[in-house]
Amino acid sequence: MNYVLDRIYQQVEKLATDEFGEPTPEVRRPPKGSQAIYAVPCFQYAKTKGVNPMQLAERVAARWSKGLTDEGLIERFEAARGYVNVFANQQKLLAGILQDAESAGECYGTHADRGQTVVVDYCSPNIAKPLSVGHLRSTIIGQALINILRARGYKVVGINFLSDWGTQFGKLLYAFEQWGEEEKFTADPIGHLLDLYVHFHKELKENPTLEDKGRTTFRKLEQGEAKERVLWKRFREESLNSFEKTVGRLGVHFDHNWYESEFEKKAHDLIDSLLEQGIAEHSEGAVIIRTFEDENKPPLVARKSDGTTLYASRDLASALERIEKFSPVSKLIYAVATEQNLHFANLAKALERIGFPDVLEHVRFGMVSLPEGKISTREGRVVYLDELLDEAERRAAEIITEKNPDMAADTRAEVARRVGIGSVIYADLSQDRIKDIVFDWKRMLAFEGNSAPYLQYAAVRCARILQKAGLPTGEWVQGTDSAKLEEPESIELVMALGRFPQAIAEAAERYAPHVLAGYLYDVAGSLSRFYTQVSVLKAAGEATRLTRLGLVQATESVLRRGLALLGIQTPEVM
Ligand code: ARG
Repeated sequence: MNYVLDRIYQQVEKLATDEFGEPTPEVRRPPKGSQAIYAVPCFQYAKTKGVNPMQLAERVAARWSKGLTDEGLIERFEAARGYVNVFANQQKLLAGILQDAESAGECYGTHADRGQTVVVDYCSPNIAKPLSVGHLRSTIIGQALINILRARGYKVVGINFLSDWGTQFGKLLYAFEQWGEEEKFTADPIGHLLDLYVHFHKELKENPTLEDKGRTTFRKLEQGEAKERVLWKRFREESLNSFEKTVGRLGVHFDHNWYESEFEKKAHDLIDSLLEQGIAEHSEGAVIIRTFEDENKPPLVARKSDGTTLYASRDLASALERIEKFSPVSKLIYAVATEQNLHFANLAKALERIGFPDVLEHVRFGMVSLPEGKISTREGRVVYLDELLDEAERRAAEIITEKNPDMAADTRAEVARRVGIGSVIYADLSQDRIKDIVFDWKRMLAFEGNSAPYLQYAAVRCARILQKAGLPTGEWVQGTDSAKLEEPESIELVMALGRFPQAIAEAAERYAPHVLAGYLYDVAGSLSRFYTQVSVLKAAGEATRLTRLGLVQATESVLRRGLALLGIQTPEVM
């Protein structure tokens, strides 16, 4: 679908290309509060031509204005401080937005198939350990990106890449053989494995030979000894079951589960072939791939001097398999914390040397803490994600009960679930992912302010108006008329709705769910101003009533589906 603002954009882009040639200046959205729709900066071109950008903008604006016709969506061009500002014909723009929303209905905002595939690596925990809050962020951000990229027209493959290989599993196997208890394992597999891991390290302090025992046991696993393999597979299976249950509460279901261990052999083959091609080289007994020019930065170590592969080489092998298996892949996205910046920088460089430049995108994010302080396993204070989600639901239920004492118990449970889980997701996604986040229950669950419940409530409110108007669910309002949009609040709301497709596009292009979150918050603000100033159900005249109703319906749809793209469900009632 070619939305009205896209159509204007394309016209402006064409004018800019014809005017300036390559490189064409980027058509921008002017800052908030500006009446202009787009702005074309003239600085770069002015610089290369050695002319004054202000004067250049004046000349260009005048020239472009001459080419305008009365029927067009663009009304005028004006120069301002080195930019050519583009102004739309308001009436035509409003009509265009209403028409787009009406004809696209529940697909409004989404884009046509781009014929490109992206692969998103997310969640990706270590087996035999509880999911950390870092994995929570990865899961939430990854799932939102998957949804947003799909809405942008990409084919998206989601992969949960489980870390299940390395000497630590030798230690764990040894610990289980020594101290493991079948009953405890069955009751709480991950909890028991964590206990055993901690226990092993405690014992290790007294008895350093345990280190060797762990290594020997891992050797056995590597060599495929049945007993070790059977046990290890059980660890893996139980871990995955538990992870899937937890992330299921966030509405997440993985397209694929891939295991790091399966890339052990493939990594060896890859390293051999890279050695042959001269891309990898021997260095002090190890095999490395030189990645950075800067000598101070470490290369990618592909094989240790003892002949074993590493996380990096297994990840590299799995990246190549993704490229091959889901071909043609335009991006490999990894939603992983900033702590692994170096790992992914190395991986990206290695892929470039192998012949895949610009394919890897490390979608990094900061740390999370709870109001009570940092969450860390090292300090021995593990926060189970399930407990965090339970707490969110419990707190949401309290608030819902207070607001709606008469709500039926099962309805309340479902509303609390959507509000509680939604609050956690929104608290994460409403901020630039690079930033560290602090979970603040009060703010997350506030019905006023930039929170999930505020947005969910805005959508529920719209749905209630539609219901009161007697509009059958699933039916789209017909007969809206942009000429009936007179109040500034109505116009503001339509303009906000008009930006939905672009908000999706920008969030996708920048891998930035917070762009979409911020957009939805703006829509809810416009809605609330509309709601207080403009009467919908008691509107004077049928055409006006229908138009306002159509506006409420489109708003409901944008809010509900926008939240869904973030991974947040809207309750039926609140
Ligand atoms: N398992 C790693 C961890 O928990 C993250 C893996 C990220 N994905 C990847 N393909 N390297 O820190």
